[in-house]
Amino acid sequence: MGRMRMLLPDAAEITPSQLPDAYGVSVDHDWYVRVNFVATVDGSVVGSDQRSGSINNEVDGLVFQMLRAWADVIVVGSGTARAEGYDAPVVDPRWVHLREGRAAHPAMAVLSRKAQLPDGMDTMGRDDVFALDSSGDDGVSRCFAQLRERGYRRVLLEGGPTVAGLALDAELVDELCHTTSPRLVGGSAQRMVDGPTFDRPARLLGLVEDDSTLLARWSLR
Ligand SMILES: NC(=O)c1ccc[n+]([C@@H]2O[C@H](COP(=O)([O-])OP(=O)(O)OC[C@H]3O[C@@H](n4cnc5c(N)ncnc54)[C@H](OP(=O)(O)O)[C@@H]3O)[C@@H](O)[C@H]2O)c1
Repeated sequence: MGRMRMLLPDAAEITPSQLPDAYGVSVDHDWYVRVNFVATVDGSVVGSDQRSGSINNEVDGLVFQMLRAWADVIVVGSGTARAEGYDAPVVDPRWVHLREGRAAHPAMAVLSRKAQLPDGMDTMGRDDVFALDSSGDDGVSRCFAQLRERGYRRVLLEGGPTVAGLALDAELVDELCHTTSPRLVGGSAQRMVDGPTFDRPARLLGLVEDDSTLLARWSLR
């Protein structure tokens, strides 16, 4: 990582310990859904190995882990859970202080039309790591309603493009956290969303720059 600068809302040099404020992690919400993605300058969400690990970097990893520590529940499509080898989420030691007064780790819901966790996913014996049946036209909306009924309030949707596309189309998302990774990869790799067409305005809430990596927050409300 290099010299981190907040460009919006107020230009200032910041340190990693100020990132939670820049992302409003202590703001209270009855219900708030964030989507988090990293993409290259030319719009790909994966590198040549079809995973996001090859296009992210240290500062994106820091924000990724911070948003996980913010979340009550992480929601992910079964395709991403499989491709990225997801296991039960464990809070990064750097962000443990963000969990004060809440469960030690966020829950995880895998959305699958078969309501099945990927083979080999290690749930670490936790009953807050589960699959939800997201089949049908309103499947993703139904799952989000179930999560709300279970008492979760801070929801972090980690994609992938299929599930994010469905959630965005159904207007379930309050905020998009979007990292632009300073590289181009060409090819015809996936974009951030895949699926239904829609036209939705986005408003820039914040922008941090670190060594040409852009960390943006977009309000979708
Ligand atoms: N750069 C990033 O930040 C980032 C983030 C996330 C993912 N990715 C990349 O995105 C790729 C995965 O993309 P993806 O679109 O396959 O991921 P996805 O959205 O996570 O998963 C797609 C799967 O979701 C399930 N699903 C659940 N509800 C559905 C519904 N109502 N309709 C259709 N399908 C539903 C389907 O599997 P079932 O058969 O189980 O229902 C489907 O195959 C991976 O290469 C991953 O690395 C990148």
